[in-house]
Amino acid sequence: MAALGRPRRSCLAVPGSSVKMLDKAQGLPADQVFLDLEDAVAPLAKAEARKNIVAALNEGDWAGKARVVRVNDLTTPWTYRDVIEVVEGAGENLDCIMLPKVQNAGQVQWLDLTLTQIEKTIGLAVGKIGIEAQIENAAGLVTVDAIAAASPRIETIIFGPADFMASINMKSLVVGALIPGYPGDPYHYILMRILMAARMHDLQAIDGPFLQIRDVDAFREVAGRSAALGFDGKWVLHPGQIDAANEVYSPAQEDYDHAELILDAYDYYTSEQGGRLGAVMLGDEMIDEASRKMALVISAKGRAAGM
Ligand code: GLV
Ligand code: MG
Repeated sequence: MAALGRPRRSCLAVPGSSVKMLDKAQGLPADQVFLDLEDAVAPLAKAEARKNIVAALNEGDWAGKARVVRVNDLTTPWTYRDVIEVVEGAGENLDCIMLPKVQNAGQVQWLDLTLTQIEKTIGLAVGKIGIEAQIENAAGLVTVDAIAAASPRIETIIFGPADFMASINMKSLVVGALIPGYPGDPYHYILMRILMAARMHDLQAIDGPFLQIRDVDAFREVAGRSAALGFDGKWVLHPGQIDAANEVYSPAQEDYDHAELILDAYDYYTSEQGGRLGAVMLGDEMIDEASRKMALVISAKGRAAGM
């Protein structure tokens, strides 16, 4: 079973340019916050946003949340200053840097080496700051295995659907929605590709944003698709999406109870028979070692969600 790491059912986007939103985010029940320096912040506001983010990380109360900062991607002139200012200024109070539009393993290695230099300079343990990698174009998806293996700091691989759809010329303006005229789910291959790369390296797989922020039912539906595949969480752009994400990426109570029953029953029957039984019956259901592993996944996700 893949290691789960810190819970990230709901990953709240907070623009670094808004002191008000940086403040408000602290009181919301998201598993993770990411304070944004990239697309939610206009070019002229980026320098100020770095300062806001450092102050919010150092002075705010982020208890119980993973604290992440999204820097600008490596084709821009901003990335190195984003990383240096944020990590030198608030590395003690930061869990991960999110790197958007990752195109190859070398970009992650650049970030890894830069973080190591900063950690050594300011006296943080080397490796303290993790990395989250966003896959947002064909280059990133095609090299996602190498990206996932590029650094021991990587904790998550994230699907960035808006940039991804634009970069491959997908014929839609509504992120996450099924596309009229196409009979299947246009995201299935991309999500599975990301999930396989993540799981191969014991990383979390995170689904990206859903932009129709007032339509929480549609959010649930889109989130439900990646949750069903095994994704660990999804971005939330609005407080109204947080509870839905926390619920959708936690097991249903009924499934959690059933998983616990399988684990207890398998343990009881196999040990009762002196360890000689491999498969046993639980009511009308046959359970074996593979069923135990499936139950362990649900049980671990449920426990991480406080069930
Ligand atoms: C997120 O960054 C996206 O492009 O969907
Ligand atoms: Mg993007």
